[in-house]
Amino acid sequence: MEYRRLGSSGAIVSTLAMGTMTFGTESDEATSHSQLDAFFAAGGNLIDAADVYSGGVSEEIIGRWLARQSGEVRSRVLLATKGRFRTGSAPNDVGLSRRHLRAALHASLRRLGVDSVDLYQVHAHDPLTPPEETLSFLDDSVRAGDIAYVGLSNYTGWQLQQIVGVAELRSLVRPITLQPQYNLLAREIEWEIVPACLANGLGLLPWSPLGGGWLTGKYTRETRPSGATRLGENPNRGVEAYDRRGSVERTWAVIDAVSSIAGHRAVSMAQVALAWLVDRPGVSSVILGARTLEQLNENLGAAGLHLTADERATLDTASDPAPADYPYGTAGTEQRARSLPPPHHP
Ligand SMILES: NC(=O)c1ccc[n+]([C@@H]2O[C@H](COP(=O)([O-])OP(=O)(O)OC[C@H]3O[C@@H](n4cnc5c(N)ncnc54)[C@H](OP(=O)(O)O)[C@@H]3O)[C@@H](O)[C@H]2O)c1
Repeated sequence: MEYRRLGSSGAIVSTLAMGTMTFGTESDEATSHSQLDAFFAAGGNLIDAADVYSGGVSEEIIGRWLARQSGEVRSRVLLATKGRFRTGSAPNDVGLSRRHLRAALHASLRRLGVDSVDLYQVHAHDPLTPPEETLSFLDDSVRAGDIAYVGLSNYTGWQLQQIVGVAELRSLVRPITLQPQYNLLAREIEWEIVPACLANGLGLLPWSPLGGGWLTGKYTRETRPSGATRLGENPNRGVEAYDRRGSVERTWAVIDAVSSIAGHRAVSMAQVALAWLVDRPGVSSVILGARTLEQLNENLGAAGLHLTADERATLDTASDPAPADYPYGTAGTEQRARSLPPPHHP
Protein backbone atom coordinates (compact mmCIF):
# COMPACT_ATOMS: atom_id res chain seq x y z
CA MET A 1 0.00 0.00 0.00
CA GLU A 2 1.15 3.54 -0.64
CA TYR A 3 0.28 6.63 1.38
CA ARG A 4 -0.28 10.32 0.72
CA ARG A 5 -1.24 13.47 2.56
CA LEU A 6 -4.95 14.01 3.00
CA GLY A 7 -5.25 17.20 0.93
CA SER A 8 -2.91 19.82 2.31
CA SER A 9 -3.30 18.53 5.88
CA GLY A 10 -0.64 16.65 7.81
CA ALA A 11 -2.75 13.47 8.02
CA ILE A 12 -1.49 10.51 5.97
CA VAL A 13 -3.92 8.19 4.17
CA SER A 14 -3.64 5.04 2.07
CA THR A 15 -4.09 5.77 -1.64
CA LEU A 16 -6.99 3.29 -1.62
CA ALA A 17 -9.84 3.92 0.83
CA MET A 18 -12.63 1.57 1.97
CA GLY A 19 -16.07 2.64 0.77
CA THR A 20 -19.00 1.39 2.82
CA MET A 21 -22.06 2.20 0.71
CA THR A 22 -22.71 -1.51 0.12
CA PHE A 23 -22.57 -2.39 3.83
CA GLY A 24 -25.98 -3.49 5.05
CA THR A 25 -27.50 -3.75 1.56
CA GLU A 26 -25.48 -5.54 -1.14
CA SER A 27 -22.97 -6.78 1.48
CA ASP A 28 -24.24 -8.44 4.67
CA GLU A 29 -22.53 -7.82 8.01
CA ALA A 30 -20.17 -10.82 7.85
CA THR A 31 -19.05 -9.85 4.33
CA SER A 32 -18.66 -6.21 5.34
CA HIS A 33 -16.49 -7.19 8.31
CA SER A 34 -14.37 -9.48 6.15
CA GLN A 35 -13.88 -6.58 3.71
CA LEU A 36 -12.71 -4.30 6.55
CA ASP A 37 -10.33 -7.04 7.79
CA ALA A 38 -8.84 -7.48 4.31
CA PHE A 39 -8.53 -3.74 3.78
CA PHE A 40 -6.58 -3.22 7.00
CA ALA A 41 -4.46 -6.33 6.42
CA ALA A 42 -3.46 -4.79 3.06
CA GLY A 43 -2.30 -1.61 4.82
CA GLY A 44 -5.38 0.55 4.18
CA ASN A 45 -6.30 3.10 6.84
CA LEU A 46 -9.14 5.34 5.55
CA ILE A 47 -12.80 4.27 5.88
CA ASP A 48 -15.45 6.34 4.08
CA ALA A 49 -18.93 6.20 5.64
CA ALA A 50 -22.13 8.30 5.49
CA ASP A 51 -25.11 8.63 7.76
CA VAL A 52 -27.51 7.68 4.96
CA TYR A 53 -25.81 4.48 3.75
CA SER A 54 -28.33 1.67 4.29
CA GLY A 55 -30.32 4.08 6.46
CA GLY A 56 -27.58 4.16 9.15
CA VAL A 57 -27.01 0.39 9.21
CA SER A 58 -23.68 0.77 7.42
CA GLU A 59 -22.28 2.94 10.23
CA GLU A 60 -23.57 0.46 12.82
CA ILE A 61 -21.78 -2.37 11.01
CA ILE A 62 -18.54 -0.35 11.03
CA GLY A 63 -19.08 0.44 14.73
CA ARG A 64 -19.43 -3.26 15.62
CA TRP A 65 -16.26 -4.05 13.64
CA LEU A 66 -14.33 -1.24 15.37
CA ALA A 67 -15.47 -2.46 18.79
CA ARG A 68 -13.81 -5.83 18.10
CA GLN A 69 -10.45 -4.38 17.06
CA SER A 70 -7.34 -4.08 19.17
CA GLY A 71 -6.12 -0.68 20.28
CA GLU A 72 -3.36 -0.96 17.67
CA VAL A 73 -5.82 -1.30 14.76
CA ARG A 74 -8.17 1.35 16.14
CA SER A 75 -5.30 3.80 16.42
CA ARG A 76 -4.49 3.26 12.71
CA VAL A 77 -8.05 3.90 11.47
CA LEU A 78 -8.96 7.23 9.93
CA LEU A 79 -12.72 7.43 9.98
CA ALA A 80 -14.58 9.67 7.53
CA THR A 81 -18.34 10.14 7.42
CA LYS A 82 -20.86 12.58 5.98
CA GLY A 83 -24.03 14.46 6.79
CA ARG A 84 -26.50 16.58 4.80
CA PHE A 85 -29.03 14.25 3.15
CA ARG A 86 -32.49 13.53 4.50
CA THR A 87 -32.59 11.35 7.61
CA GLY A 88 -36.28 11.74 8.53
CA SER A 89 -39.50 13.36 7.38
CA ALA A 90 -39.37 16.55 9.50
CA PRO A 91 -38.36 19.86 7.88
CA ASN A 92 -35.04 19.97 9.74
CA ASP A 93 -34.04 16.40 8.97
CA VAL A 94 -32.02 17.56 5.96
CA GLY A 95 -29.50 20.23 4.95
CA LEU A 96 -26.39 21.96 6.23
CA SER A 97 -28.01 23.98 9.03
CA ARG A 98 -26.39 23.95 12.46
CA ARG A 99 -29.59 22.28 13.67
CA HIS A 100 -29.45 19.35 11.26
CA LEU A 101 -25.68 18.85 11.18
CA ARG A 102 -25.47 18.71 14.98
CA ALA A 103 -28.10 15.96 15.03
CA ALA A 104 -26.53 14.15 12.05
CA LEU A 105 -22.98 14.22 13.45
CA HIS A 106 -24.01 12.99 16.89
CA ALA A 107 -26.14 10.22 15.41
CA SER A 108 -23.12 9.11 13.32
CA LEU A 109 -20.81 9.13 16.37
CA ARG A 110 -23.37 7.05 18.26
CA ARG A 111 -23.76 4.46 15.47
CA LEU A 112 -20.00 4.27 14.92
CA GLY A 113 -19.41 3.96 18.68
CA VAL A 114 -16.67 6.60 18.70
CA ASP A 115 -16.07 9.97 20.38
CA SER A 116 -14.83 11.64 17.21
CA VAL A 117 -14.33 11.17 13.47
CA ASP A 118 -11.24 12.21 11.55
CA LEU A 119 -12.98 13.70 8.51
CA TYR A 120 -16.54 15.06 8.54
CA GLN A 121 -17.77 15.72 5.01
CA VAL A 122 -20.74 17.79 3.95
CA HIS A 123 -22.40 15.43 1.48
CA ALA A 124 -23.54 18.21 -0.92
CA HIS A 125 -24.06 21.98 -1.11
CA ASP A 126 -27.24 23.34 0.53
CA PRO A 127 -28.63 26.42 -1.23
CA LEU A 128 -30.74 27.33 1.82
CA THR A 129 -28.03 27.51 4.49
CA PRO A 130 -25.47 30.36 4.56
CA PRO A 131 -21.92 28.91 4.41
CA GLU A 132 -21.07 30.91 7.58
CA GLU A 133 -23.63 28.87 9.54
CA THR A 134 -22.32 25.51 8.30
CA LEU A 135 -18.69 26.49 8.84
CA SER A 136 -19.26 27.91 12.30
CA PHE A 137 -20.89 24.61 13.39
CA LEU A 138 -17.98 22.64 11.90
CA ASP A 139 -15.45 24.97 13.51
CA ASP A 140 -17.12 24.49 16.91
CA SER A 141 -17.07 20.72 16.34
CA VAL A 142 -13.32 20.77 15.68
CA ARG A 143 -12.78 22.77 18.91
CA ALA A 144 -15.04 20.36 20.81
CA GLY A 145 -12.92 17.44 19.55
CA ASP A 146 -15.84 15.80 17.68
CA ILE A 147 -14.09 16.04 14.32
CA ALA A 148 -10.49 16.58 13.22
CA TYR A 149 -10.92 17.76 9.61
CA VAL A 150 -13.69 18.99 7.33
CA GLY A 151 -14.35 17.81 3.77
CA LEU A 152 -16.82 18.54 0.97
CA SER A 153 -18.62 16.22 -1.41
CA ASN A 154 -20.38 16.79 -4.73
CA TYR A 155 -19.60 20.54 -4.79
CA THR A 156 -19.33 22.52 -8.03
CA GLY A 157 -16.39 24.85 -8.57
CA TRP A 158 -18.20 28.02 -7.44
CA GLN A 159 -19.70 26.31 -4.39
CA LEU A 160 -16.25 25.09 -3.34
CA GLN A 161 -14.65 28.50 -3.88
CA GLN A 162 -17.42 30.22 -1.94
CA ILE A 163 -17.12 28.03 1.14
CA VAL A 164 -13.28 28.12 1.15
CA GLY A 165 -13.41 31.92 0.75
CA VAL A 166 -15.83 32.34 3.64
CA ALA A 167 -13.70 30.05 5.82
CA GLU A 168 -10.65 32.21 5.15
CA LEU A 169 -12.47 35.52 5.57
CA ARG A 170 -14.02 34.48 8.88
CA SER A 171 -11.07 32.41 10.15
CA LEU A 172 -13.26 29.31 10.36
CA VAL A 173 -12.18 25.72 9.71
CA ARG A 174 -11.06 25.31 6.09
CA PRO A 175 -12.16 22.21 4.13
CA ILE A 176 -9.26 19.97 3.09
CA THR A 177 -10.91 17.49 0.70
CA LEU A 178 -13.56 17.13 -1.99
CA GLN A 179 -15.28 13.81 -2.69
CA PRO A 180 -16.57 13.85 -6.30
CA GLN A 181 -17.65 11.24 -8.82
CA TYR A 182 -14.51 10.61 -10.89
CA ASN A 183 -13.54 7.71 -13.13
CA LEU A 184 -12.42 7.02 -16.71
CA LEU A 185 -16.01 7.34 -17.90
CA ALA A 186 -16.82 10.52 -15.95
CA ARG A 187 -14.08 13.16 -16.22
CA GLU A 188 -16.19 16.30 -16.43
CA ILE A 189 -14.87 17.51 -13.04
CA GLU A 190 -11.60 18.26 -14.84
CA TRP A 191 -13.15 21.37 -16.44
CA GLU A 192 -13.68 23.32 -13.26
CA ILE A 193 -13.78 21.25 -10.08
CA VAL A 194 -10.28 19.70 -10.21
CA PRO A 195 -8.71 23.13 -10.94
CA ALA A 196 -10.69 24.57 -8.00
CA CYS A 197 -9.29 21.81 -5.75
CA LEU A 198 -5.73 22.31 -6.96
CA ALA A 199 -5.94 26.09 -6.55
CA ASN A 200 -7.22 25.71 -2.99
CA GLY A 201 -5.13 22.73 -1.88
CA LEU A 202 -8.09 20.36 -1.48
CA GLY A 203 -7.32 16.66 -1.96
CA LEU A 204 -9.65 14.59 -4.16
CA LEU A 205 -11.34 11.45 -2.79
CA PRO A 206 -12.95 10.03 -5.97
CA TRP A 207 -16.12 7.94 -5.63
CA SER A 208 -17.43 5.33 -8.08
CA PRO A 209 -13.92 4.71 -9.41
CA LEU A 210 -15.17 1.75 -11.49
CA GLY A 211 -18.32 3.45 -12.76
CA GLY A 212 -20.39 1.11 -10.59
CA GLY A 213 -18.90 -1.92 -12.39
CA TRP A 214 -18.56 -0.80 -16.03
CA LEU A 215 -14.77 -0.58 -15.80
CA THR A 216 -14.31 -4.12 -14.47
CA GLY A 217 -14.88 -5.66 -17.90
CA LYS A 218 -17.77 -7.84 -16.78
CA TYR A 219 -20.08 -6.09 -19.21
CA THR A 220 -19.53 -6.17 -22.95
CA ARG A 221 -21.47 -5.18 -26.04
CA GLU A 222 -22.99 -8.67 -25.90
CA THR A 223 -23.28 -9.10 -22.11
CA ARG A 224 -25.24 -6.20 -20.67
CA PRO A 225 -25.92 -5.76 -16.92
CA SER A 226 -28.50 -8.12 -15.49
CA GLY A 227 -29.25 -10.12 -12.37
CA ALA A 228 -28.09 -9.22 -8.86
CA THR A 229 -25.56 -6.55 -9.72
CA ARG A 230 -25.60 -2.80 -9.03
CA LEU A 231 -26.18 -2.03 -12.69
CA GLY A 232 -28.51 -4.92 -13.39
CA GLU A 233 -30.78 -3.75 -10.57
CA ASN A 234 -30.88 -0.17 -11.84
CA PRO A 235 -32.07 0.42 -15.38
CA ASN A 236 -30.87 4.04 -15.17
CA ARG A 237 -27.27 2.86 -14.92
CA GLY A 238 -27.13 1.28 -18.38
CA VAL A 239 -24.30 1.97 -20.79
CA GLU A 240 -26.12 5.15 -21.83
CA ALA A 241 -25.42 6.60 -18.34
CA TYR A 242 -21.91 7.47 -19.49
CA ASP A 243 -22.92 8.50 -23.00
CA ARG A 244 -20.98 11.74 -23.51
CA ARG A 245 -21.03 12.27 -27.26
CA GLY A 246 -24.49 11.34 -28.32
CA SER A 247 -23.40 7.73 -28.68
CA VAL A 248 -22.25 4.93 -26.42
CA GLU A 249 -19.17 4.30 -28.58
CA ARG A 250 -16.90 6.35 -26.34
CA THR A 251 -17.86 4.15 -23.37
CA TRP A 252 -16.95 1.00 -25.31
CA ALA A 253 -13.71 2.62 -26.57
CA VAL A 254 -12.67 3.34 -22.95
CA ILE A 255 -13.54 -0.21 -21.89
CA ASP A 256 -11.58 -1.59 -24.88
CA ALA A 257 -8.52 0.55 -23.99
CA VAL A 258 -8.61 -0.58 -20.35
CA SER A 259 -8.98 -4.19 -21.49
CA SER A 260 -6.02 -4.00 -23.85
CA ILE A 261 -3.67 -2.52 -21.20
CA ALA A 262 -4.86 -5.06 -18.62
CA GLY A 263 -4.18 -7.88 -21.10
CA HIS A 264 -0.63 -6.68 -21.82
CA ARG A 265 0.19 -6.28 -18.14
CA ALA A 266 -1.62 -9.45 -17.00
CA VAL A 267 -3.56 -7.49 -14.38
CA SER A 268 -7.30 -7.02 -14.11
CA MET A 269 -9.25 -4.22 -15.80
CA ALA A 270 -10.41 -2.92 -12.42
CA GLN A 271 -6.77 -2.60 -11.34
CA VAL A 272 -5.89 -0.61 -14.48
CA ALA A 273 -8.86 1.75 -14.02
CA LEU A 274 -7.96 2.28 -10.35
CA ALA A 275 -4.25 2.83 -11.10
CA TRP A 276 -5.15 5.50 -13.68
CA LEU A 277 -7.27 7.32 -11.11
CA VAL A 278 -4.82 7.09 -8.19
CA ASP A 279 -2.25 8.95 -10.31
CA ARG A 280 -4.53 11.76 -11.51
CA PRO A 281 -3.47 15.21 -10.28
CA GLY A 282 -4.80 16.17 -6.86
CA VAL A 283 -5.97 12.70 -5.83
CA SER A 284 -5.38 11.81 -2.16
CA SER A 285 -7.20 8.46 -1.99
CA VAL A 286 -9.54 6.51 -4.29
CA ILE A 287 -12.62 5.10 -2.54
CA LEU A 288 -13.14 1.41 -3.35
CA GLY A 289 -16.60 -0.12 -3.47
CA ALA A 290 -17.25 -3.86 -3.43
CA ARG A 291 -20.15 -6.25 -3.03
CA THR A 292 -17.95 -9.27 -2.23
CA LEU A 293 -14.62 -9.97 -0.54
CA GLU A 294 -13.27 -11.33 -3.84
CA GLN A 295 -14.04 -8.05 -5.62
CA LEU A 296 -12.37 -6.08 -2.84
CA ASN A 297 -9.25 -8.26 -2.92
CA GLU A 298 -9.00 -7.79 -6.66
CA ASN A 299 -9.33 -4.02 -6.28
CA LEU A 300 -6.77 -3.92 -3.47
CA GLY A 301 -4.38 -5.49 -5.99
CA ALA A 302 -4.16 -2.03 -7.58
CA ALA A 303 -2.05 -0.84 -4.63
CA GLY A 304 1.37 0.13 -5.87
CA LEU A 305 0.43 -0.30 -9.56
CA HIS A 306 1.52 2.65 -11.71
CA LEU A 307 0.85 2.92 -15.43
CA THR A 308 3.49 4.12 -17.87
CA ALA A 309 3.18 7.52 -19.55
CA ASP A 310 2.20 5.75 -22.79
CA GLU A 311 -0.50 3.68 -21.09
CA ARG A 312 -1.90 6.77 -19.38
CA ALA A 313 -1.86 8.70 -22.65
CA THR A 314 -3.85 5.89 -24.33
CA LEU A 315 -6.46 6.00 -21.58
CA ASP A 316 -6.51 9.82 -21.49
CA THR A 317 -7.22 9.96 -25.21
CA ALA A 318 -9.92 7.28 -25.22
CA SER A 319 -11.70 8.84 -22.24
CA ASP A 320 -11.22 12.53 -23.03
CA PRO A 321 -14.42 14.31 -22.04
CA ALA A 322 -16.21 15.78 -25.03
CA PRO A 323 -15.27 19.44 -25.57
CA ALA A 324 -18.11 21.25 -23.87
CA ASP A 325 -19.87 24.41 -24.98
CA TYR A 326 -18.83 27.89 -23.88
CA PRO A 327 -17.06 28.66 -21.56
CA TYR A 328 -15.42 25.23 -21.64
CA GLY A 329 -14.82 25.17 -25.41
CA THR A 330 -11.61 26.47 -26.99
CA ALA A 331 -10.46 28.55 -24.02
CA GLY A 332 -11.49 25.89 -21.53
CA THR A 333 -9.54 23.18 -23.35
CA GLU A 334 -6.34 25.25 -23.23
CA GLN A 335 -6.87 26.11 -19.55
CA ARG A 336 -7.58 22.51 -18.59
CA ALA A 337 -4.30 21.40 -20.19
CA ARG A 338 -2.39 24.12 -18.31
CA SER A 339 -4.12 23.50 -14.97
CA LEU A 340 -3.48 19.77 -14.75
CA PRO A 341 0.11 19.36 -13.54
CA PRO A 342 1.88 16.03 -13.97
CA PRO A 343 0.60 13.33 -11.64
CA HIS A 344 2.49 12.25 -8.54
CA HIS A 345 4.11 9.25 -10.22
CA PRO A 346 5.49 9.82 -13.73
N1 LIG B 1 -20.06 11.14 -1.86
C1 LIG B 1 -20.96 10.55 -2.60
O1 LIG B 1 -21.97 11.13 -2.99
C2 LIG B 1 -20.75 9.10 -2.96
C3 LIG B 1 -21.54 8.49 -3.95
C4 LIG B 1 -21.29 7.15 -4.26
C5 LIG B 1 -20.29 6.45 -3.60
N2 LIG B 1 -19.54 7.07 -2.61
C6 LIG B 1 -18.46 6.35 -1.89
O2 LIG B 1 -17.59 5.73 -2.82
C7 LIG B 1 -17.54 4.32 -2.59
C8 LIG B 1 -17.32 3.60 -3.88
O3 LIG B 1 -18.35 3.92 -4.81
P1 LIG B 1 -18.98 2.80 -5.73
O4 LIG B 1 -19.46 1.67 -4.90
O5 LIG B 1 -19.95 3.47 -6.63
O6 LIG B 1 -17.65 2.32 -6.52
P2 LIG B 1 -17.44 1.53 -7.88
O7 LIG B 1 -16.11 0.88 -7.73
O8 LIG B 1 -17.63 2.39 -9.06
O9 LIG B 1 -18.60 0.42 -7.92
C9 LIG B 1 -18.59 -0.64 -6.99
C10 LIG B 1 -19.44 -1.79 -7.52
O10 LIG B 1 -18.86 -2.31 -8.73
C11 LIG B 1 -18.87 -3.74 -8.68
N3 LIG B 1 -17.47 -4.16 -8.56
C12 LIG B 1 -16.49 -3.59 -7.78
N4 LIG B 1 -15.32 -4.23 -7.92
C13 LIG B 1 -15.54 -5.23 -8.80
C14 LIG B 1 -14.69 -6.23 -9.36
N5 LIG B 1 -13.39 -6.30 -9.03
N6 LIG B 1 -15.25 -7.11 -10.24
C15 LIG B 1 -16.55 -7.02 -10.59
N7 LIG B 1 -17.40 -6.09 -10.09
C16 LIG B 1 -16.90 -5.20 -9.20
C17 LIG B 1 -19.69 -4.12 -7.47
O11 LIG B 1 -21.08 -4.11 -7.81
P3 LIG B 1 -21.90 -5.39 -8.35
O12 LIG B 1 -21.27 -6.66 -7.83
O13 LIG B 1 -23.26 -5.16 -7.84
O14 LIG B 1 -21.82 -5.31 -9.84
C18 LIG B 1 -19.45 -2.95 -6.54
O15 LIG B 1 -20.44 -2.78 -5.55
C19 LIG B 1 -18.85 4.01 -1.84
O16 LIG B 1 -18.77 2.84 -1.05
C20 LIG B 1 -18.98 5.24 -0.97
O17 LIG B 1 -18.15 5.14 0.18
C21 LIG B 1 -19.76 8.37 -2.31
